[in-house]
Parts: sequence; structure tokens; C-alpha cells
Amino acid sequence: MKVLVNDKLVDRSKAAVDIEDRGYQFGDGVYEVIRLYNKKFFTFEEHIDRLFASAAKIELGIPYSKEKLRELLENLVKENDIDTGNVYLQVSRGVQQPRNHIIPDDLALVGILTASAQEVPRNPHLFEDGGTAIIEPDTRWLHCDIKSISLLGNVLAKNRAHRAGAMEAILHRDGEVTECSASNVYMIKDGEVFTHPADNLILNGITRQGILKAIRANGIPVKEEAFTIEDLKEADEVFISSVTLEVTPITAIDGVPVCEGKRGAITAKIHEHFVDLIVEQCGELETVPEQ
Ligand code: PDD
Repeated sequence: MKVLVNDKLVDRSKAAVDIEDRGYQFGDGVYEVIRLYNKKFFTFEEHIDRLFASAAKIELGIPYSKEKLRELLENLVKENDIDTGNVYLQVSRGVQQPRNHIIPDDLALVGILTASAQEVPRNPHLFEDGGTAIIEPDTRWLHCDIKSISLLGNVLAKNRAHRAGAMEAILHRDGEVTECSASNVYMIKDGEVFTHPADNLILNGITRQGILKAIRANGIPVKEEAFTIEDLKEADEVFISSVTLEVTPITAIDGVPVCEGKRGAITAKIHEHFVDLIVEQCGELETVPEQ
């Protein structure tokens, strides 16, 4: 397996990060996860634009132009022969010795890029059968719109969900649902879709943006409006989204079934419309044989 360290493709076993790297020392950096179908990037520009936006919000310079970044990432997936999979890329603020919270001016300008690519097939059974969730307080900072590599709040919430035998943790602040530990969340009530507005309290998922586009194009009513835990508990359908989850139904919350523990009809329709967007950009998706 080859990975990217700055503009060089190197063997995974040879790739190393300096112990004084600010990404390692402070979680000082930003990242992206980009999905590939049929050897083609899906919503590539949107992810790269978000990476640059995240970097700008922490005054970090991305070391390459968007065009150069595309070339480097295309080489990475080609070298690893990825057909359908994920590319993770991180930009840290770089090495600083001795350790100091204060960012020296020269480090503010240029970060260090690392990236890896992995084959991760689609999981249509997940999209149909869904998963369960627990509700957890959102203890993260107030800049969740930045795709920061500092993910402790997310990691701890996700791990609590895992320990409870659930797939995701749905997060709330003072009773208002924000998003999940690693995905966005939506509820459907009386035919209308609700999801938290794209402000500083959530990461504006690229999948979320695609889903909202697909929902609006198909005339399904949608409101980008915060809702409460009580609303969530009375929802007709609940689903979550991310690059790998696409549109995944939530079938129980804190052990209580949602939509009788099945994927709802509107969730299924929304997923269909979202898949149309993927097919438009990346071509027909492989159908999985019946099990
Ligand atoms: N997570 N919200 C959070 C907190 C996330 O970590 C993610 C994605 C999303 C959905 O964003 P997108 O649709 O662009 O994937 C929302 C990725 C998958 C991760 O960190 O691995």
C-alpha cells in the first residue's frame, strides 16, 4: 500500500510523522474523506472546497493548489488500484520545536499533507436494514463546521454508542439535536424532512448537501431547522448520512424502535434520488447479488 506524504507516494511502512508535528501535539490540522465509485471521485470539488474553507478558518495554508491536489490524489488511488473506496487526507500545521501553543508565522502559511486510500465497497444491506443509535450530549467545541482532526468529542460519543451496541450517537445541546458523532441526522414528520441548519454547530456534510439538493429537486418538503429530542422520539422516520453511509435509516433510538424498526418509504425514496446523483457523476453502481 502506498500513501501520500506531501507530494511523494511512499510505502505505508516507510511513512512517518515527526513527533513534534502540531497535528500530533495539538490536533492542529484539518482533514477530508472523499468517496470514489467506479474509479471516479464523487463530489470532489465540494470536498476540496470544504478542506480549503476549514483550513482558512484556522489560518492554515494548504500546501498545494486545488489542481495539484487533484493530481496527487488521482495518482494515490491509481497506485493503490482503488475502484470503490475512501480517500482520507489530512493537513497538519507542521513541525514546531520546541512545542509551543503559539503558532510561528512561518508555520501559519504552509501545512503538511498526508493521505491514504482504501477499497471500501458499498454496503446496500446497511442502506436497507439501517442501524441503531443512542442519544448523547454534544460536548464538542463551538466550531463543528471546521473538519478538524481534533475529534475527541466525536470519538468518545461514537465509542459510547459502540459500547451500547449501537451504530451512532445522536448528539444534542440543551435538548436540541445537532448531528451525530460522524454523520448528519434527519427526521421525517408528516412527510416533511428536518435537519439542523448548517451553522457552527454541525459539519455541513457533502452528502447532506447532495441529499438536500436531491430532496428539493424531487419536491419533497424539507426544513433546515433544529428539532428537539422529544421531536426526534416522535418522528415517523430517522436517517443519517455521510460519505460512506449515504442514506442510512435509524431503526431504534435508545432501544425504542423508529418506524417499527424498518426503513421508511420516504427514506428509501431519498436514498434512490441520492444514488441518482452518484450515477450521474460516477456511472452505474454494481448491484449486489441477493444473499
Ligand atoms: N465523517 N458530521 C460529522 C461530525 C462527520 O464526521 C461527518 C463525516 C459528517 C458527514 O459529512 P460528509 O457527508 O461530508 O461525509 C457529518 C467522516 C465520514 C469521517 O470523519 O470519517
